[in-house]
Amino acid sequence: MRKSYTFMVVMVLFTVAFFAFSSVSFAQPSEKEFIIFHYWTAGGEKEAINALFEMYQERNPEVKIVENPVAGGGGETMLAVLMSNLAAGIPPDTFQDHQGNQQKDYIDAGYLDIVDDIWIEANFEERINPMWTKTLKFSDHVYSVPINAHRTNWLWYNKKVLDEVGIKAPETYDELLEACQKIKEAKPEISPLALGSREKVWVTYLYDMVLLTTGGPDFYEKANTGRIDFLNDPTFRQAMERFAALIPYIYPWHATKSWDEAAALLKTGESAMYWMGDWVLGYYLSIGMEPEVDFSATAIPSDVWMGHADTFAFPSGVPNPNNARDWMRMCTTPEAQEAFNLIKGSVTIVNDVPPDVYPDPYRQRSANDLGTLRAVCDGYHGGMMTPAFASEIMDILTRFLVDEEVDAAIEDIARAAERTQLAEDCSWFWEE
Ligand code: GAL
Repeated sequence: MRKSYTFMVVMVLFTVAFFAFSSVSFAQPSEKEFIIFHYWTAGGEKEAINALFEMYQERNPEVKIVENPVAGGGGETMLAVLMSNLAAGIPPDTFQDHQGNQQKDYIDAGYLDIVDDIWIEANFEERINPMWTKTLKFSDHVYSVPINAHRTNWLWYNKKVLDEVGIKAPETYDELLEACQKIKEAKPEISPLALGSREKVWVTYLYDMVLLTTGGPDFYEKANTGRIDFLNDPTFRQAMERFAALIPYIYPWHATKSWDEAAALLKTGESAMYWMGDWVLGYYLSIGMEPEVDFSATAIPSDVWMGHADTFAFPSGVPNPNNARDWMRMCTTPEAQEAFNLIKGSVTIVNDVPPDVYPDPYRQRSANDLGTLRAVCDGYHGGMMTPAFASEIMDILTRFLVDEEVDAAIEDIARAAERTQLAEDCSWFWEE
């Protein structure tokens, strides 16, 4: 009796010890890191992501943030590194992404996981303009959390130069062209329009502008998703002619400049105006330029809000899923959105942060307009066009800047749209 009792006690102790030991040796390693890929390395954008890091670090003091920033805004370099890491199955915990076709390509390749629960928990869909859901939700699922809304139909200008030439800020394409002509006449040493095409992506922003101001928002959406007959559409030809008319007024050494270096041409007075998204505002504020004194901005056309969202995507098989999910949860809060956007130049994508938190008129206007005007997404960063078509059109437009050949550009674009099956690959955009 006594013997079997001792045997049972030994067995129980052994079993307890075994499980205690196995739970130690087989436990998941604790998540010590949070690995993020982003390309916010220029003035303004760097400080903005740092504000989020600070907030995250307060929530998770024990976690080490590992960032892999790659210099050069617009992200062409980072995207190449990211793609090879995703393909090799070594994803970061999150990465800076956009929406629409830019995100869909990753989803179709099986690189992203669903984060519906994070959106539901934060009541996120009710807090954003429905137009965003169209390009962030795929087959009824979401794979990222957006942190902002960048307006891109802004024309930034050097106030002093425009005042000296005696012109008011243009509000239409025709007024823009006229302003270019007058500036060139009055101040031949200045380039009326700044541009930095060292990263070709910025040329697509001018393309978006002529599509939108020539054909209006419906035409714009159709053209960027391949639903027009590029070769024969008279509105498309007119848009390309209007693009060509601007080329002689563009800063001639644009191929040597990044977007922020081109922005600086307004500070030095080498250029008068700059067609660019409001990350430029973050940059101007970071270099101490004063709104309404050193620079100002005008929206063209004034009755449309065009732009895109920066998002944090959730890759499949991330090394630190809890840390990644906590980052995304944090980004749904009004506090994180406000802290980021006050520095970034954009506005919060959530509508529960009032427009009057912004100290300058541009963001107050952007936040108000986003809630009231017709809104469209950018062709490239807004993911209206596919990355395959975008890569071709970037080359075509960069050539166009040099040869100004409207017919050749139209033919090349039509061929690229066909070759890359633009209309077919964008059909999801038109599904109800
Ligand atoms: C865009 C991005 C912005 C801004 C810009 C320049 O793609 O959405 O957040 O940073 O590039 O780097």
